[in-house]
Amino acid sequence: MSKVVVVTGSRRGIGKSIVDKFLEEGYNVAGCSKNEKNIVKDNLLLMQVDVSKISDVKKFYFKVIKKFKDIDVLVNNAGVAFNRSLEDYSIKEIDLTLDTNLRGLIYFTKIFLSKLKDSKGVIISVSSLAGLKGYSSLSVYCASKFGVVGFSESLAKELKIKVYCVCPGPVGTDMWTGLGWIKYPGITKPSTIANKVFDCVINKPKELVIK
Ligand SMILES: NC(=O)c1ccc[n+]([C@@H]2O[C@H](COP(=O)([O-])OP(=O)(O)OC[C@H]3O[C@@H](n4cnc5c(N)ncnc54)[C@H](OP(=O)(O)O)[C@@H]3O)[C@@H](O)[C@H]2O)c1
Repeated sequence: MSKVVVVTGSRRGIGKSIVDKFLEEGYNVAGCSKNEKNIVKDNLLLMQVDVSKISDVKKFYFKVIKKFKDIDVLVNNAGVAFNRSLEDYSIKEIDLTLDTNLRGLIYFTKIFLSKLKDSKGVIISVSSLAGLKGYSSLSVYCASKFGVVGFSESLAKELKIKVYCVCPGPVGTDMWTGLGWIKYPGITKPSTIANKVFDCVINKPKELVIK
């Protein structure tokens, strides 16, 4: 039986590359995004989900279980970012950043956890270099991504299953373009991050943080 991976933020960028990589490797894939199309195929379930809405997360969980029964890998990837000084952040942008990048990630992990424990699965959360180091104009994003690292490190101590935090630098996606720092030398391809995520599942490295 094929293994099952759940990927948030599946529609674009790094998440889309992760979906493609796991499909190539013969996995069944359940992906969700805020504006995802609802699609059901033999090996693929895509659903429109707002990760920050617990009712959406629960609905998606039951759909995934109904279709694929077990869950082997959770990839928490959905995220948003704003390039702003703290004075310029609106309250709406602050809430959106924390609710998507941190609260939603915690909801997802909590709701999918029992199935991941049953399968002795793997949890991989996409944080950032901005989860390890502070950057000017990224204060709220950094707060959310530091939160992801702390959450993951704690879970790694609390649980018997493997937990990882992938912490990329700049990756060539809509998010990076949207930040407006387009001219960055040595930008990483989304497929490189997808390969790192897949490597965590296959080779189960010792370190929690994968740069
Ligand atoms: N790009 C970089 O330089 C970089 C560097 C380090 C870390 N990261 C992290 O990598 C992850 C993926 O980023 P990316 O660069 O691939 O960004 P992206 O191209 O902007 O894609 C973000 C994805 O997250 C989804 N999403 C956003 N809010 C959501 C919500 N509330 N509920 C469900 N899905 C939601 C989007 O859904 P829709 O497509 O439906 O809008 C989209 O599919 C993020 O966590 C980001 O912080 C990125």
